[in-house]
Amino acid sequence: MNQNELKRLVGEKSVEWVKNGMIVGLGTGSTVRYMVDALGRRIAEEDLQITGVTTSSVTAKQAEALGIPLISVDEADHIDIVIDGADEISSYFQGIKGGGAALLFEKIVAVNSTKVLWIVDESKMVDKLGAFPLPVEVIPYGSQKLFDRFAAKGLNPTFRKQENGSLLLTDSDNYIIDLHLEQIDDPHALAEYLIHQVGVVEHGLFLDMVNDVIVGKQVGPVVLHA
Ligand code: A5P
Repeated sequence: MNQNELKRLVGEKSVEWVKNGMIVGLGTGSTVRYMVDALGRRIAEEDLQITGVTTSSVTAKQAEALGIPLISVDEADHIDIVIDGADEISSYFQGIKGGGAALLFEKIVAVNSTKVLWIVDESKMVDKLGAFPLPVEVIPYGSQKLFDRFAAKGLNPTFRKQENGSLLLTDSDNYIIDLHLEQIDDPHALAEYLIHQVGVVEHGLFLDMVNDVIVGKQVGPVVLHA
């Protein structure tokens, strides 16, 4: 199986965690896309009463097209489970997210969910975090100053751009600065530093947040409990 087939495998497997009546957080990304499709099929075939809380405009558009009823995170009195992808997961179940620029809404939905389930193909499982550039969402005002501070600290920042060369804007009209770190030895210390920099809205370190992970392997989906 290639990477896309592994993503489809875990996406389809993950909807087994969804029960009738649940409020479900819907993550973002190419793996989640398969999950949302599978959830749409289950809702139609089994006549399930499911409500979704989306984490990006892209996922909202897909869910709406499938007829999945949606409410905003602030309308939800609880969220039973959020199913989301990840860019890297360490052996301590710490994660990097935000490759799809949706880390801010993803983290808000994750911290407000009873259960957090990540779905990944096996390439995302790493010993230590950091080979994947760490996304940091920043407000545009003063972002060059923040960028310079990151550079001076040796964090190897780059502004994320769109294909046409202009700076990428998140769903909240912020910029993303990616930090090319190679290896993150102390994710908690880095998270603490980042969140205290003025202008940082959120960073892509998702620490001590996940409950279960479904890993797509050649032998089939493997479920890990954090
Ligand atoms: C979106 O901002 C991300 O956090 C995604 O969940 C993550 O990048 C995984 O994406 P893929 O499923 O496309 O690999």
